[in-house]
Amino acid sequence: MFDFLSRSTLGVDIGTASIKIVEIAKSLPKPKLKNYGILRSRTYLERPNSAIQTNSLKILEKETADLLRILVKKAKFKSRNAVASIPSFSAFTTLLEMPIMSGVDVSKTMPFQIRQHIPLPVSEVVIDWNKVGEREDEEGLKQQILMIAVPIEIKNKYQNIFKLAGLNLKSLETESVSLVRALAAADPSPALIIDIGAYSTNIAVSENGFLKTNFFSDFAGASLTKAIANGLNIGVKRAEELKKERGLMGGGGDYELSTLSEPHLDVIIEETNRAKNNYEKSFSRKIERAIIAGGGANLPGIGNYFEKRLGMATTIGSAFSRINYPPEIGLFSKELGPEFAVAVGLGLK
Ligand SMILES: Nc1ncnc2c1ncn2[C@@H]1O[C@H](COP(=O)(O)OP(=O)(O)OP(=O)(O)O)[C@@H](O)[C@H]1O
Ligand SMILES: [Mg+2]
Repeated sequence: MFDFLSRSTLGVDIGTASIKIVEIAKSLPKPKLKNYGILRSRTYLERPNSAIQTNSLKILEKETADLLRILVKKAKFKSRNAVASIPSFSAFTTLLEMPIMSGVDVSKTMPFQIRQHIPLPVSEVVIDWNKVGEREDEEGLKQQILMIAVPIEIKNKYQNIFKLAGLNLKSLETESVSLVRALAAADPSPALIIDIGAYSTNIAVSENGFLKTNFFSDFAGASLTKAIANGLNIGVKRAEELKKERGLMGGGGDYELSTLSEPHLDVIIEETNRAKNNYEKSFSRKIERAIIAGGGANLPGIGNYFEKRLGMATTIGSAFSRINYPPEIGLFSKELGPEFAVAVGLGLK
């Protein structure tokens, strides 16, 4: 309905192991997925330097633009308007507490806040902030402001990449904000969102559709693959296959596989508990729910493992639950739901 009137947007997630794009039209009654595409780097495990982005400061502008252009052409995306994300670890996310005051007055304090909390000069970052809560203590009522600062250098790089790829970059945000929009926008209760990618895990806490806090870990999908490869003395390709096939399931001969993976997952769980404790202390509310996303969410058995270790209800996030996708687009495999969470969040902006 009204589809012919609606303009569509590309949500572009440039990860270390893949680029994912969705094209979403803001049609009624639900947003509609018009197209999607993924370009996976086949060599990211053998040659970590060939990863699409090793870290965003080193992101290779021309190479990334070429890959983007190829994907847009091959998948036949129609829109040229894009919204993109930067990894949460390349932004500075800070929770500020200050007396209740108007938005204009909060803005005026921002240069001071940047000098206090960000290790870069005021002139070298762009900031975005949002009121995310209030808290009362001995000193009275305070408002909580989440400040996200992105180095201008990174913003310029992304603008360059998109220009080179022939796309209009309309907006740039951190992955955590996109994850919350895709997976917990309509959820009033606090939730942990754990995005397990190839080289990093991003742990966000959301409440009422807002990002509240953000943690990360360097342990992610590639750590599991390497642990399996080293432990069984096999190549990374075979280790990657074994991981996807069996994950944490099965006993007997497979037992070794889960004992190799679990210590690495436990590091992610430890960091998740840190995020949980930090949030519960700052906001005086309990978190009772976790959502796992990213390619790592497809590890067989991961949902149960996290649920047991975290001691809370844990689900695998599906990016497509809030949007319509017409049958002509093709049958989705269940694995795409968690993998496309960031891209869908961007496309819904
Ligand atoms: N079925 C599966 N079982 C286990 N792991 C899987 C499965 N499918 C994908 N993965 C893992 O997910 C990871 C890739 O996830 P994702 O596509 O979210 O990464 P990315 O966004 O490119 O990386 P990052 O977010 O770290 O930049 C890889 O390590 C891959 O091995
Ligand atoms: Mg990712």
